[in-house]
Formats: sequence, structure tokens, C-alpha cells
Amino acid sequence: MLGQLLLIEQADMCDQQTYLTSTWTKEFDNLCDWFTHLLQKSATGTIHIHVLGNTITANPENVEHILKTRFENYPKGEPFAAILGDFLGKGIFNVDGDSWKFQRNMASLELGRTSIRRHAFDIVNSEIQSRLLPLLSSVSGEQRVLDLQDVFRRLSFDNICKFAFGLDPGCLELSLPVSEFAEAFDLASQLSAQRALASSPLIWKLKRALNLGTEKRLKQAIKMVDALAQEMINQRREKCFSDSNGLLSRFMGTINDDKYLRDIVVSFLLAGRDTVAAGLTSFFWLLSQHPEVESAIRDELERVVGSSDDHQQMASFDQLRDMHYLHAALYESLRLFPPIQFDSKFALEDDILPDCTLVRKGTRVTYHPYAMGRMERVWGPDCLQYKPERWLKQGRYVPENLFKYPVFQAGKRVCLGKEMALVEMKSVVLAIISRFNIRVLSPNQAPRFAPGLTANVRGASVSVNGLSRVEIPTNRIAS
Ligand code: HEM
Repeated sequence: MLGQLLLIEQADMCDQQTYLTSTWTKEFDNLCDWFTHLLQKSATGTIHIHVLGNTITANPENVEHILKTRFENYPKGEPFAAILGDFLGKGIFNVDGDSWKFQRNMASLELGRTSIRRHAFDIVNSEIQSRLLPLLSSVSGEQRVLDLQDVFRRLSFDNICKFAFGLDPGCLELSLPVSEFAEAFDLASQLSAQRALASSPLIWKLKRALNLGTEKRLKQAIKMVDALAQEMINQRREKCFSDSNGLLSRFMGTINDDKYLRDIVVSFLLAGRDTVAAGLTSFFWLLSQHPEVESAIRDELERVVGSSDDHQQMASFDQLRDMHYLHAALYESLRLFPPIQFDSKFALEDDILPDCTLVRKGTRVTYHPYAMGRMERVWGPDCLQYKPERWLKQGRYVPENLFKYPVFQAGKRVCLGKEMALVEMKSVVLAIISRFNIRVLSPNQAPRFAPGLTANVRGASVSVNGLSRVEIPTNRIAS
């Protein structure tokens, strides 16, 4: 569809229109980079893609307007609820209104507990000690190539299952077992994302009705996800007698409907798995380009934790909080490579954005964190550079306006797992770089993106996302 002639407008009550042809595919790897290019050229930082009926913005004032000031006017909307409905059902990412409020309140009770970060820290550190480090040590010094993103996906899948459901799937065991669940999950996410690329919803709806091609495969993948999610619910139910902690138990205390519980399980898996894995993978790619950042993190670790001859010491939870440089390095990496590159809403009523862009009732509006990280007017002339220092004042991390950096979204639907994700990512980074040198095979080749619902869930947005394989020659992983 997008290979055809598109009409693109700078979206400010506009007199300027540009026609583009399919040549974008020759210049850009993916739609995100192409949209970024168009947004950089737009005087308002907003464009309108007619054929998609989509207004795309990289303007922080517009983002605040959509996510906070006029939040009620910009729900996720019916079109995406339909596209993602078979896979996500009525899980938190795919609903608005009362159902969203209920799930958000329940999840906030669990994820908002003051002790939750420490709990997340304990879970991730046990996974690191018992699985991640033995795996990396086992390949260290050998000629094998490791797919880093695969490792991080396994790790984050184990973590979110332990954290949210109190269950351990053991995906990061030394044998790297094939997980039917994880595979079905990936396929369902990828094929659901593809639906949004059809030029008309009628196409995928017809294929679904006739059980053909990708729709047939999607149906099979979802069936597998359903069965395994049900197994998790059953296991949790059995365990509840002995241990009733955790997110799923909290929901099970109020909900009897297993289909609804399945939707909740799927949403949290999607939330907690690929986001963290994508964030860590691009972080290590950036580190391989910036050895000075790697050294600065090691220095900070030594300063905060103290040096240890065998480098086996783990940072404690409280020490983690004192590592401002590490925090800045991660934030900066997420700025350039947000795991969720864009997110869409649908306008309930006509509206005018702060930059004077007219939004018509029923049309799609997208804010674009990936493009925002690349806008000079948002981040200055060095916006394309990886500079953790931009987040620091006198060595201390200073937060930025959230609407300028909507990597975790912002406003009323801001990510509920942000703190947990940061604890997880920091622990993994420290554990690895205090022990190994990780070198990406082709450091000069920027991460490529594969289509998917990114860690991407994001119930609302279908994005071009998910980093491609980042390979590490294990002969260069040296203790
Ligand atoms: C680097 C990691 C992460 C990033 C960048 C991230 C980013 C986001 C974004 C952009 C959204 C909005 C999505 C949308 O509305 O379509 C979101 C929502 C959410 N995230 Fe995260 N997330 C991360 C990790 C996590 C983790 C580990 C959890 C799980 C515990 C989590 C739980 C949630 C939940 C429950 C929501 C839904 C909030 C709502 O709709 O009210 N996230 N996240």
C-alpha cells in the first residue's frame, strides 16, 4: 500500500502539499525512518498522510495535548481494537473506558507498591546469577555466535512470568529450550501487526472469514497462546493455596472469567518482554560504538560498589539508585531507540492541536517517540549523537519534560512497568559489563528493524519494530 503514491501535507491548516512516490523504499530501510525524515522537514513537526488518514506528530506540545490535556478525546479506538482483538482480547493495551480503568487500578495497586522495585530487583538478580551468567560464561572464549536479542527475550520472558504470575518458564536455561509459547506469541504478535498494513481492513477480515494464508496461521498461533495462557492460569490457581502474591493472583481474586484472565496474561507478557529485550539489545549495540560510555559505567560501578578482584560482586538495590551515569546512559539509549517507536489514537471529535493542525473526528493521530529523538528542535543540533551527559547536571541525573520524551508514554496511560523495567535493565547491564566484553559483529551497521507489534504492543500502535539479530562473536566475549 505504502509503495503507492501518497499525499503528504505539513499539517498546519496547510497550503503546502507534497506528493511522494515509492522511491522512499530506496532511501530508507523502514517507514519509521521515512516518517522521521518528513517530520524533520515539516515546519510544525507534524504531517498528515492522506491515504492512511493518519496525522503524525513529533511536536511535544501536541503530545501533551493528546496524552493529557484532551486525553478523553483520544482513546485507542475501535480500528485497533479490531486489529489486535483476536490476540490481545480485552487486555489493558486494547481497551478504553471502564475496562481500562479497572485493569489500570488493579495493576497500579500491585506495581505501585513501594517494595515492588526491590522485589523486581531480587527476581532479576536471581535470573542473572542462575542463568544469564552461566550461559555467557559457557560460550565465553569459544567460536560460537550468540544472538543477543534472543538471550534478552528469554531473560525478560522468564522475569515477567516470575514477577507477574509467580511462574518460571525457564526459557534461559543453559540448553536454550525451544518455547512453544514464546514462538506462538511472536508469530501472533507479528501477524497481528501485519493486519494494520493491509490497504483495507476488509482484506484481512475476508481472509479471516475464509481461514486463509496469514489469517489461518494467526488463528493457529493464537490457539496455542490461548492453551498455554490457560495452563498458566491453572497453575497459578493451584499455587494460590500456598502463595497468593503477584499481579495475576490479584486479578484472580476479583475475576472468575478465564477468557478475561487470559487477555490480562497476554497483555502483561507483551508489556514486559519485548520492550525490555529491545531496549537492552540497542543499548549494547550503542555501547559497542561507544567504549568511552562502557568505561564510564565501569568507573561508576567501581566508585559506588568498590573494586573487587574477581569482579563477581553485584550492585545492591540501593547502590543501583546511586548510579546516575548508568541511568543517563540507558535513558539516552531509549531516546534514540525507543522500544515502542510510535503509538496511535483515534479522535472522538474534531480538534485542533496546539500547532494548529486540524484533526478530524474518527481519524488516526500518532505521536512518534522515534522521530522525536531525532528532531533538532526538540533535542538540539547534537540530537543524533549518543550522549548520556545530556541528562546530567553536576553528575546527577535531571529528568526532562515527559512529553518531549514519551518513550514510556506520558499522561494518564503512562507505562506502569517503567521502574521495574529500569531495575531489570540496569541489573543486566552491570552484571554483563562488569564481567564480559560484548562486541557486536557489525558495529558499523545500524540496528535493523523487523515488522512486529513491538514490544511493541502497544495495543494501540502497529509499528515497524523489533531489532534484528545482534550477533556477538563469542570468541570476543572474554572474562
Ligand atoms: C523499556 C521497557 C518499557 C517501555 C519502553 C515501555 C513503554 C510503554 C509504553 C510506550 C506504553 C503505552 C502503550 C500504549 O498505550 O499503547 C506502555 C504501557 C504499559 N506498560 Fe510499559 N514499557 C516498558 C516495560 C514495561 C514492563 C516491564 C511492564 C510490566 C510490568 C510494563 C507495563 C505496562 C503497562 C501495564 C502498560 C499499560 C498502561 C495503560 O494502558 O494504562 N511496561 N509501556
